[in-house]
Amino acid sequence: TQIAGSFSAGGVDMMVGIATPAAVACYAAAEEKDIPVIFTAITDPVGAKLDSGNITGTSDVLPVEGQLKLIRALQPDAKTIGIVYTTSESNSLYSIGVYEEKAADYGFTIDAVAVTYAPGLIGAVLVGVNFAKAAALALGKPLIPVHHIRGHIAANYIAYPELEPPFLCLVVSGGHTMIVEVKDYTDMNILGTTLDDAAGESFDKVARVLGMPYPGGAALDRAARQGDETKYVLPRSKPGENPYNMSFSGLKTAALNLIHHAEQVGEALDIPSLCAAFSAAVSDTLVPRAVMALEQAGYRKIAVAGGVAANSRIRADILAAAEKLGAEVYLPPLHLCGDNGAMIGAQAYYEYKAGHVADMSLNAYATKSILGEAL
Ligand code: KG4
Ligand code: ZN
Repeated sequence: TQIAGSFSAGGVDMMVGIATPAAVACYAAAEEKDIPVIFTAITDPVGAKLDSGNITGTSDVLPVEGQLKLIRALQPDAKTIGIVYTTSESNSLYSIGVYEEKAADYGFTIDAVAVTYAPGLIGAVLVGVNFAKAAALALGKPLIPVHHIRGHIAANYIAYPELEPPFLCLVVSGGHTMIVEVKDYTDMNILGTTLDDAAGESFDKVARVLGMPYPGGAALDRAARQGDETKYVLPRSKPGENPYNMSFSGLKTAALNLIHHAEQVGEALDIPSLCAAFSAAVSDTLVPRAVMALEQAGYRKIAVAGGVAANSRIRADILAAAEKLGAEVYLPPLHLCGDNGAMIGAQAYYEYKAGHVADMSLNAYATKSILGEAL
């Protein structure tokens, strides 16, 4: 393949990677488009099960081995990998030796270790950072810290190799909702943000009260497609001075009140229609602001990032709105919207190129701005 040649940077010939739920598609796309792919060495066994026939085990070793097999089959010429650790969904660790051995079995060498260092549940992030430090130290390889949300944005580079900054990005995840100017791969600016709940969080809370399993955003989205959004009226709030800022707590409370009221008076709820009305209200909060920012800040390209980027209503609305302006829209394929290791590796590549390498004093952070201040 041409991947190695085109991504040679400071000793890292390339970073090969795989997201657990994304393995095959991600690899195929990367090969076709000549872009870096990131190998997630520590993987979520649940995610691994979802994927190709090559990865079936839930034991601690099989997912690693399965992914390496997959890489070898799809990338016969690949020589170098980066290890990427995605903390938020992973619940098992492997010894560093497993990676090295298994990588060697398939003809790979490891050139760098990338890790999510912020933001997230501190316990998970700490485990990841400590593991990555140990791996980097043991292997004598550079340690590349990656901001989780920058990773979400970078999922778009995997899907759309032609996408280059500057562009505008609507970030919508379980914990973050913001409109970000991606001025360069490692240079960002926040135009607007939620003042209370994140979009994903509000989806999850409403879904939970409707009895959907956590996190319920995707289930709510599926139900919404069968509903009539005009059946329920939900508010769209306009908080504060900054026209790009958003709020979801009023909307969430209104939806929860509606559900509880129906329960109290014994009225049957039309759940799909309520889901449709809720999705419409979230989209009406996000999309017009993002498109206004696109226009006013003078960008020609808009990307969406984060788990909620999988939402069908938001995808349709942003496509339609940006199309009207003649702007390019980049929506990550569904398997790259939610948390995955590939996105961390993709961003790690650019962090590494920018010289953002950490030493053994790297810490884990529950919260950290995307703006790239010193570590
Ligand atoms: O980015 P992500 O995987 O994890 C965080 O970094 O938070 O986002 C997870 C969020 C959850 O709130 C989940 O319910 C939501 O993304 N989500 C969706 C959809 N798919 C996932 N929300 C609405 N519609 C969807 N289709
Ligand atoms: Zn995430």
